[in-house]
Amino acid sequence: MAIRDILEIPHPILRQRAKRVRRVDKKLLRLAYDMVDTMRAAGGVGLAANQVGELRRLVVIDIPEEEEARIYINPEILRREGEREVEEGCLSHVGYRALINRSVWVRFGALDHTEKAVRIDAEDLLAQAIEHEVDHLNGILYLDHLADHANLYRVDQDGHRLDAEGRRIEDDEPDAAPPRSEEDAPASMKIR
Ligand code: NI
Repeated sequence: MAIRDILEIPHPILRQRAKRVRRVDKKLLRLAYDMVDTMRAAGGVGLAANQVGELRRLVVIDIPEEEEARIYINPEILRREGEREVEEGCLSHVGYRALINRSVWVRFGALDHTEKAVRIDAEDLLAQAIEHEVDHLNGILYLDHLADHANLYRVDQDGHRLDAEGRRIEDDEPDAAPPRSEEDAPASMKIR
C-alpha cells in the first residue's frame, strides 16, 4: 500500500472524464487500496481515481462510523430525490468549504471490490459522498454547484471558518455559518 499525491484544482486531469473499468485485476485493486490509504492520510471521506491521476471509474468512501472503507467500481447514480443544502470540501481544494445543494436520497449501482454488482439506497453522508465522487469521475467539481460565490469560504486546518483576513469567525457572530441541528450536522462534515 502506498500514499499517492493528490492533484489539486486546477489540474486538467480533474476536468477529464474517467474511463469505465473493464477488468478488475490486481493492478486496479492495488490502486483502490492506495486510494483508501491516501484518503485516510488526508482525513477525507471520499476520493476518486482522477484525484490521484488515474482516469478509471473507481472511487473510495470512508464513512466515519464504518470500520471498512467502501470501494466502488463503475459507480452510477440511478435515481436522485429531493434537495438539501450541505457544507462540502474536496481533497483537491484544501482550505476551502462551500455550501451547495445535494440530493436528499440517491440510488446507485456499482461493482464492489469483490466484483459483485451492488445496488444501494443512500442518504446522509453516503449520498453526498457518492454524488461528489461520481461528479469527479465526470470531470465535475463541487465548485460547479456553487449558486453564489459568497457560499465559498476559507477554513483553517480544524475546519473553522475564516474571514477575508484569515481570522477565525466565532460561532456566535451573526455572519458565521447558520446553526444546524444535531440531526443534519454529520452530513455537512468534510466530504472530500
Ligand atoms: Ni473531491
